[in-house]
Amino acid sequence: MPTNETATLTFRGKTFDFPVLTGTENEVAIDISKLRKHTGAVALDYGYVNTGACKSAITYLDGEQGILRYRGYPVEDLAQNSRFVEVAYLLINGRMPDKNEREQWSALLNRHSMMHEDMRHFFYSYPERAHPMAILSAMVVSLSTFYPELSQHRPEEPDEAINIAATRLMSKMRTIAAFSYKKSIGEPFVYPRHDLKYCANFLNMMFSSPVCSYEIKPEVLQALNILLILHADHEQNCSTSAVRLVGSARVNLYASVGAGICALWGPLHGGANQMVINMLEDIAASGKSVQQYVDDVKSSKGGKLLYGFGHRVYKTYDPRAKIIKASCDRVLKALKINDPMLDMAQELESIAMRDEYFISRNLYPNVDFYSGIIYRAIGIPKEMFTVMFALGRLPGWIAQWKESREDPMFKLQRPRQIYIGPNVRMVKEAERTSEL
Ligand code: ACO
Repeated sequence: MPTNETATLTFRGKTFDFPVLTGTENEVAIDISKLRKHTGAVALDYGYVNTGACKSAITYLDGEQGILRYRGYPVEDLAQNSRFVEVAYLLINGRMPDKNEREQWSALLNRHSMMHEDMRHFFYSYPERAHPMAILSAMVVSLSTFYPELSQHRPEEPDEAINIAATRLMSKMRTIAAFSYKKSIGEPFVYPRHDLKYCANFLNMMFSSPVCSYEIKPEVLQALNILLILHADHEQNCSTSAVRLVGSARVNLYASVGAGICALWGPLHGGANQMVINMLEDIAASGKSVQQYVDDVKSSKGGKLLYGFGHRVYKTYDPRAKIIKASCDRVLKALKINDPMLDMAQELESIAMRDEYFISRNLYPNVDFYSGIIYRAIGIPKEMFTVMFALGRLPGWIAQWKESREDPMFKLQRPRQIYIGPNVRMVKEAERTSEL
């Protein structure tokens, strides 16, 4: 919302006024869209630490207070009282579904859950050790070859077409994820079932087989719902910004989400959940104590990280990590699992939270720290952890892609740079070649 305030910049002896805006939670922004036009200079902001790239009505996040809300609803409330598919509906459509809408949404998710049979053959072409995130991104982009009707991110595309593409993606990505797991363990694919709800259907596709049915335990179902809800959106993070940036070239939804999946894969972002378990395994294998590992991290001066710790925005305990930690205790207890990784993770947290290095830098456990322990308990291998994150984040990506498309300020995203290379120079005599 515009305010009466302005921010004044003095530059090379001249002053310039820039409008000041506030959001509905009173965050303040200085609108510098005319900065270059007025001053000839661009803003330089590595990592976009201070840069807002859009206005958004989807997610509110306060990193100092540890607040996260989707469309106004606190995540704690949603994790306790909703199912993932309802939260997905909320994010994508801006409001909670009523009973009819919930039933319709479930029916649509069922209707679109099958993959085209030809896509099944793609899975056989990947090498045995292919990372499931590579397969997931390629398969999601491939959906655009089977459903080319949404091949362009056209402003005039009817809402109905967008909604069908969104529903298709929500439903099929779950099937793709489960198939990529089955391929990795050499088992036959299990098809989606219309009598099962979203999360139960996914677990069934992952863990049942023609020779063995899978008992869906309510504790596992609840833990999975909570995990997916907590990952469902997180405003303008790296992968969501990738979706928006790629989408800003009017790229279709499938390809834009494919870009988001690739960005999420990175170990500094969603890939951190796999790195946490790698790190705990390394500590166990090295024979070092947890304290020694923490000391190594500190003395490496940024060379070695405590994965699952730290966040660009949260400068307090990540509210999602709190809920996940409690859910982790519950699910391990219910399944009667005693995982030494959990003990090690808790020891690591307790050492780090008392250490000046982590305290002074506001480094707290993030969403990725305990999620892997739950996935392990459910039976999901670590290579699939980031795929699980992507499944959860999908409604957020869809909602953000849709919002950017509908934004009256929609613009191709194209940052500037400060060129620091050589000044103009010509090819020297000795460097010339006439070979073609
Ligand atoms: N372990 C050890 N030191 C850390 C960690 C960590 N996990 N995170 C930050 N630091 C240190 C940095 O070395 C730096 O120290 P310095 O001031 O002495 O140079 C200081 O804390 C500030 O860190 P920055 O790198 O400036 O923080 P930034 O906001 O850029 O990084 C990030 C955030 C990338 C998440 C970082 O904390 C990190 O790498 N964490 C580990 C990976 C991880 O868990 N990622 C998942 C994040 S949640 C998500 O994306 C889903």
